[in-house]
Amino acid sequence: MSVQLVGDTKAKLSALRGILGTRYPLKAALLDDASIRGDDIEAVVVDADLRLVANITAVKRISSQLGRIPKRIFLVDDKSRFSTVQAYALGATTVLSNNVDPRQLLKNLAGNDPTLAATSAVDGRAAASAGAASIASMFASVLSGADVDLEGTKRAGGQIAESIAENGLSDWLATVRRHHEGTYQHCLLVTGITVDFGLSLGVGSADLERLYMAAMFHDIGKATIPLTILDKPGRLQPQERTLVETHPAAGYEALKDRADLSPEILDAILHHHEYLDGSGYPHGLCAESIPDIVRILTIADIFSALIEHRNYKPAMGRERAYEIIQGMAGKLEKPLIGAFKS
Ligand SMILES: [Fe+2]
Ligand SMILES: [Fe+2]
Repeated sequence: MSVQLVGDTKAKLSALRGILGTRYPLKAALLDDASIRGDDIEAVVVDADLRLVANITAVKRISSQLGRIPKRIFLVDDKSRFSTVQAYALGATTVLSNNVDPRQLLKNLAGNDPTLAATSAVDGRAAASAGAASIASMFASVLSGADVDLEGTKRAGGQIAESIAENGLSDWLATVRRHHEGTYQHCLLVTGITVDFGLSLGVGSADLERLYMAAMFHDIGKATIPLTILDKPGRLQPQERTLVETHPAAGYEALKDRADLSPEILDAILHHHEYLDGSGYPHGLCAESIPDIVRILTIADIFSALIEHRNYKPAMGRERAYEIIQGMAGKLEKPLIGAFKS
């Protein structure tokens, strides 16, 4: 079965693709010239501002085609009574705000309908196992000088993204904490948190893929650092700290010649410890030089390190960890910190 998307702007279509693209085959059309064909379409998601007369007219024009689709979810710009009533009048079976948590949209789409739920995501444990295996394999490749399996990492990252979209972040955190240790646990948690953050920001599917790839790979340079240092309880000696701080550049070096890896992902690996105020490493970059994908990854990375349980430190509660993130406002982007709260 496939899902038809209809949006009044390209940006809305791209955000919807980001949320639904890993789960359903999609067809997308701009409302202005939408024409809906295909017998396999079982649901339509219409995202349009119904305060505009032109949009109402455009939806009416395709109303007979819409009527043949059993499930019709309308996302409205303001969940006002007017837009909601208008959406139902135009044939909606469900009306949601277009600021809705992506998980609620997925839930509404799947509902109790077995055909719609049939393509639903892998379970969290399988995704975590695939993710851990992929991270173990990339670490081993770096140590042995073999090529890192990018396609395998993409598959595992995609499975994690599906699991998060389906089961939510809490479920992912619990699964990863129960079954995985140390650096693998860290990479899996950062991937999950980055995906959940990206979904809540409404990023498109290409950006979501970049985010989970960057997160999976971000600490690959730690493969070369002894576990006695990575897992050392308490403060590191200055020379140990210097060694740990080589991991972003080491990760970049390991992957920089791969033509099939996008420059944005390489940049995120190299710069995920940079801060907006220039106090990070390895290059002491300042705000303008740090792209969005890196800013998102850095917040997820710090938050993850705080809530992790290690042999030498108990896990910190999420509320306390968020307070610490909030306290880093000069180093991390303030609007992103605000958005991260949910
Ligand atoms: Fe790192
Ligand atoms: Fe990290």
